[in-house]
Amino acid sequence: MNSSVNRLFDFLRHCPTCYHVIDQIRSEMAQKGYKELFEADEWTLESGGKYFVVRNESSVIAFRIPSGAPDGFMITASHSDSPSFKIKENPEIAVEKAYVKLNVEKYGGMLMFPWFDRPLSVAGRVIVRDGECGFNTKLIDIDKNLCMIPSLAIHMDRNVNDGRALNPQNDMLPIIGDFSAKDTFEDIIADAADVDKKDIIGKDLFLYCKNEPSVWGANDEFISAGHLDDLECVFGCMNGFFDAEASDAVPVFAVFDNEEVGSSTKQGADSTFLGDTLERVAEGVGKSYKQMIASSFMVSADNAHAVHANYTDKADPVNRPYMNGGIVIKYNANQKYTTDAVSQAVFTRICEMAEVPVQHFTNRSDIAGGSTLGNISNTHVSLNTVDIGLAQLAMHSPYETAGAADVDYLIKAMSKFYSLSFVNDGCGKFQLK
Ligand code: CO
Repeated sequence: MNSSVNRLFDFLRHCPTCYHVIDQIRSEMAQKGYKELFEADEWTLESGGKYFVVRNESSVIAFRIPSGAPDGFMITASHSDSPSFKIKENPEIAVEKAYVKLNVEKYGGMLMFPWFDRPLSVAGRVIVRDGECGFNTKLIDIDKNLCMIPSLAIHMDRNVNDGRALNPQNDMLPIIGDFSAKDTFEDIIADAADVDKKDIIGKDLFLYCKNEPSVWGANDEFISAGHLDDLECVFGCMNGFFDAEASDAVPVFAVFDNEEVGSSTKQGADSTFLGDTLERVAEGVGKSYKQMIASSFMVSADNAHAVHANYTDKADPVNRPYMNGGIVIKYNANQKYTTDAVSQAVFTRICEMAEVPVQHFTNRSDIAGGSTLGNISNTHVSLNTVDIGLAQLAMHSPYETAGAADVDYLIKAMSKFYSLSFVNDGCGKFQLK
């Protein structure tokens, strides 16, 4: 197994939910000497300083201050969340003195069929009392095979393979135990948080798939794991950010929550988080925010669809990304993807310099396709942006598939990206330096 894939798998094992993603990034940043800033404090930024700021424990923005006056920002944006089932309040439902199941609802647009017949568990955050009027956040991961959504046998639904509609309230509730498991879910959560259950007064808990990440294929060419969309891009951008050489720009590594539900939360790409942070950085280095934004560039990194072996006609007739074929640049005439001639040219040149292959994705002209963070973020912080991703299959399944070689391509390209600055000379002229 190549070492980047190994490291990616390690990262994924630590990241069952968006809160764990940010916690893992926080600990990697701390290990590398980055200082955590808090939005409620005053900031003093030093030349050569390395910083990060977290919002809602589910989004993070990290940046470095160059030694001279910076030209602008070189930003990557990816997302920390993945489609899953969220545990509802009062989740236990007893069934005929035989089973206990959990009441859940959909988070994001997922493929529901692959959630059947897999070992599942629960992770997330709880808010616990801290003294008279205080609160404290605790992350929990019930790190065992805790629940399962068993399929209905073929004998009881002979037409299932002809296309069955799934109802999330009726079909997708996981069994957590036999009847003796009644009234134990809260205890399990309190045990994991190491607090008394009466002290837990807020919860964001999700199901996740316990299947281990795997490498497979005749030549070990594929990888499968939960959350590849978008933690593969989070991991690639973060390592490129760490590996980069100093430039005349402020390198910015941003990860946002809630992409899968439209980004419109206080910590999503459709929030003030990026703009607020960049304005404070500009202020800290004594430059005009608006001037800096004009000489800035963003890579919106979210995985892309590879051509599927069984559904080759779902892809565009000409632009056909494959796993292990390099970074995918995404285009959409209606600008659901932000790529335009300028950002295509800049990103293509960066990949040439990094010696990383690029591929091109467009939807078939008769398929609407998805969207991502770039165009949403641009309504708050408007700058030249390219949409990219790594080619994958089974997007929004709890166990997705991608190419083993592509992880390194993304790290290399992002390392080159973060080693450059983008200068907008005006009149259609711009340069990388
Ligand atoms: Co995504």
